[in-house]
Formats: sequence, structure tokens, C-alpha cells
Amino acid sequence: MRRVLTGLFMTLAGAVGAQQAADAVAPEAASVGAFQSLSPEIAQALAVKAAGKSVEADSWMVVAANPHAVKAGADILAAGGTAADALVAVQVMLGLVEPQSSGLGGGAFLIWYDAHTGALTTFDGRETAPLAVTPRLFQDAAGAPLKFFDAVVGGRSVGTPGTPALLAEVHARYGTQNWANLLAPARELAGAGFPVSPRLAQLVAEDAERLASSETTAAYFLPEGRPIAAGETLVNLPYAQTLDVLATQGVAAFYAGDLARSIVATVQGAKGNPGVLSEVDLAVYRVKERPAVCASYRAHEVCGMGPPSSGAIAVGQTLVLLEGFDLSAGPDDVTVRRLIGDASRLAFADRGRYVADSDYVPVPVAGLLDTEYLSERAELLAGDDALPEVTAGAPEFDHALNWTDDEAIELPSTSHISIVDSFGNVASMTTTIENGFGSRLMVGGFLLNNELTDFSFRSHKDGVPIANRVEPGKRPRSSMAPTIVMKDGAPVIVAGSPGGSRIIGYTAQSIIAMIDWGMDPQAAAALPHAINRFGTYDLEEGTSAANLADTLGAIGYETKAAALTSGLHLIAIGDGLRGGADPRREGIALGE
Ligand code: GLY
Repeated sequence: MRRVLTGLFMTLAGAVGAQQAADAVAPEAASVGAFQSLSPEIAQALAVKAAGKSVEADSWMVVAANPHAVKAGADILAAGGTAADALVAVQVMLGLVEPQSSGLGGGAFLIWYDAHTGALTTFDGRETAPLAVTPRLFQDAAGAPLKFFDAVVGGRSVGTPGTPALLAEVHARYGTQNWANLLAPARELAGAGFPVSPRLAQLVAEDAERLASSETTAAYFLPEGRPIAAGETLVNLPYAQTLDVLATQGVAAFYAGDLARSIVATVQGAKGNPGVLSEVDLAVYRVKERPAVCASYRAHEVCGMGPPSSGAIAVGQTLVLLEGFDLSAGPDDVTVRRLIGDASRLAFADRGRYVADSDYVPVPVAGLLDTEYLSERAELLAGDDALPEVTAGAPEFDHALNWTDDEAIELPSTSHISIVDSFGNVASMTTTIENGFGSRLMVGGFLLNNELTDFSFRSHKDGVPIANRVEPGKRPRSSMAPTIVMKDGAPVIVAGSPGGSRIIGYTAQSIIAMIDWGMDPQAAAALPHAINRFGTYDLEEGTSAANLADTLGAIGYETKAAALTSGLHLIAIGDGLRGGADPRREGIALGE
């Protein structure tokens, strides 16, 4: 029933793939142990992942960051549900068992392939700035930017959540299963309690001081003042109650009524750092359908989310800049790393200058992805050494204003869900509450986002405006890059990752790994990371990527060893389905 995947994986899956598989990041043993007893399918998926292999299936597949969530989605798909149905079940479960990364209090971007029409489209469920904000939201009385966490923790950073509205929209458009039934597994587990995962326990312990800033949040994550421990059972009755309300009244009950009033009271009443979110902001929130943004790379169309995300533009620019270069020597080759690193820097320079919410500022999307513009930019890559300096280019842009470079800070966070259903529909959704544990404010059993800190804290520099400045009703620029790669009109790769602005590099590398290096999804997800956004080369500590420090240093890069915790969830679609879940996180792939 599936189209055969021509070329990809078969022709190039030789030396490079085999060698890199040996260098791959291994799954954390603690995470494997924590989930093994949940079900035989989960135990098997964990074993396949631990062996560094992709999960194979014929009909449907789901890959996400936590086995409970993947199982919830798999049950829906096995019962004949669509990818939209499964997406709802996976997301509401992630909001319970991986609450630090995404949930009802956050936002998401989805790219959807409709098997019936053969069309791609995207849904923007990004959080939105309250109507009462000013461009000085994140500045002190003297106009200086606030310290990052002074801005994050509390109500000031909370934007109107978009995830509930996005789930309702795609369910209404593409779902076939009863809405309440999709929420039921998460509702039941919230009431019965779930075992705290090793990753959640570790992150709570690391963030205990900030989590203690709100009484409700502290009572949940720090009972009796101590961080919840791995394996402990965590019951979330407020979340069960929220899901009950959404099951019976639909998501309208999130955007108006008691729940909306509680959200507003929590944000406006945040001690020391209140926000301005109002009931009007919730009432007027809308999901926006936008055209997919695509770039051609080696006879594939790499498609994803346009503004307000920078994801598809920056991933696309990186790949198109590399189109004329031979990357076949693989990821341990210093020239290949120079090319990928400097292509990424060029893309980040343009991103910093031009990309923001296109409903508020003109964004030259076509100009930034124009092949003539990019082939001129690619000439900069022709030397042997690191580019000494990288600045934004001058794409065709019918706009009289100059922008100056953005200063938004984006720290790693977020989650990614990849799904293919038995009808051939494909969903790739990256979902977030921004920083780990978001604003640290909790209401209705879920955390509220701090997405507004994805805006630039400064609105101007030297009198020149910044495109991604705070404005009422605007959506902050994102790096989320939910991706579907098409070949000959059919989807062949589903990709995406969490990781703050490193999402762009993680996602681009996974596509290069699968197209240029012939890797299967698990090998691509486990490939060590080397990421360059702004000049310094971040090399994943404890992996073979860190061994590149001397050779990259010799050609002019500063390098830094860093924990590069991607969460790549990949599916290859061809003669069957193959799925890989990032070994750095707790996720799995399940399929049938
Ligand atoms: N807050 C993560 C992103 O939108 O890129």
C-alpha cells in the first residue's frame, strides 16, 4: 500500500551510515527501565531503540517523547483513527507525563499532509501577546532588558495559549473519533496517577527553586518541599477535571468561562511579576491556517512552518545553501562540518534580521528562499576556513524600513510528535510551553507558557526597530520546525525536534543524515550533534562530535562542549514505515 522510496536509504546506506551508527548516542538505561513494564509493545519498542534500530511497520506509526503518550496515540491509530485523532490523544497525555515541555497552557505548530487531496498545509497555534502589552514588556524602568529568568518566571511572560484551539481545529477538520474518547486515557491516568519518569524527576530537582515560586506549582512538583522522585506516583486531579470539562464542553470552555477566569487570575495575580493576559485575549484567540513553506533539496521538497516560525525558512536556507556541495564524506569530516556550520550561520543571520510574525511585519519569505539569492550567498562557503564574520544578506524585499538584528534568547525546551496514519495522512507537530516548566505558573493541572520571552527584549537598537519586538496581539518568533519532506509528490520523511533555536540545526542534520548519508531514522536521531548558530561551534559533549574540536579550531572556529539534548522524532515513509526516537529523551516509536 505504500509507495516505494526511490533512492533514499537504499543507495547510500553504506559506509557512512554504518560507521556513524557505531558513534551514536545510546539511550539512557534509567529511562528504558522505567517504562519496560507498561506493555509488551512498549518493552519491544524500547528494546529496538536500545539496539539502535528503527521500529518498522506497514500501516501506521507514532513517535513522541514519552511511552504513555505514544501508546495513547497508537491505540487510536490501531482502532482506525486518523493522525489528527492520535495527535489529540498524544498531546493531552504529554501534558500530563511530560508537563515541563508542552501542554494545554502552550502553543504548537503543525504541518499536515492530507492523503485524500495530496495537499500540505500548516496550522499556527502559537501563543499570542496580550492586547495590553507594550514593546517595553521585558525592559526595566530605564529601558534595559530584564534578566532572562526575571522575565520568564511569573505572569509577565504568559501568552494566550494556542494548543487547545489547534487540537480542536485539526480534530474538527480531519478527525473521525469521538473527541471525549481521545481525552479519556489521559483523564484516567491523571486520576489514577502515573509513575514519575527519570527525566521529569531530574528536571524538577534541577529547577526546584523556580518551581517553588508559585504555591500551586510547588505543591504539585515539590510535595512537602522535596522534589518528586523517579518512580513515585503523581496524581493530577485538577488536570483530570480540566479534561472532563474539555471532553463535555469542548475547547470553548478553555477560552471562556471558569477555566479562562482561573488562567487570567493566575497570570494577573502572580506574586512579584504579574502579567496582563485578560479574558478578552482568550476569547479572541484563533488558530491560523497558513501555506506550507518549502525548499528544494536534492530532488526533495522540504516543507514546514513559515512565520511566525523561522523553522522552515532557516532549515530550508541551510539546505539550499548546501545543495551545490558534496557532503558524502559524512559528519566526521571537517569540511562537511564547516559547510553545514557556516550555512547555518548564514541562515541564522537572515533569521535574526528578517523573521518575525508576518501578520505584523513584512517578512521576505520568497526572497529568503530564492535560489538565485542563496546561490550567491553560497559562494561565501567556497573557502577552506570558517567565515570570519557573518551578517544578514539582502534578499529581494519590497519594504522601505530597515530592521536591525534580533536579540531574543531561546533556551532548550519543547517536544515533537510525528504520526502517519493507516490512510496515509501525516502529522508533524512541534509543541511547547517554551522554557522547561514555562512560566512556572500552574492552573487546572497544567503549566502556563512563558512564550512571550521568544520576543526580542529590546524593541530597537540605535533607533532602528527589531522585527521581532513585542506588540499587542503579535505572535513571538519561533524556531520550531515541524517538517514533512516530499519526493515526487509523496511524503517520505516526517521530522522535527525540541531544542530552542538549536531545533533548526537538529532538524536540518536529521534531513541531511537521511538524504545525504543514507541513515535510517534511528541512526539519524542518534547521530552526535555539532551546531553552529552564531559563530561558536557547539559540540555534543561525550560523543564523537566533541572530537572535532581541534580540527574545527584549526580552521578558525571557537568551539564549546555542550549537552545538546535534541528530541528528534523521525519517520521514513517508503516501502513500509520506519521510525526513530531520540535516545537523549524517553520517547519511542510504535507502529503496526
Ligand atoms: N519556544 C521554542 C520555540 O518556539 O522555538
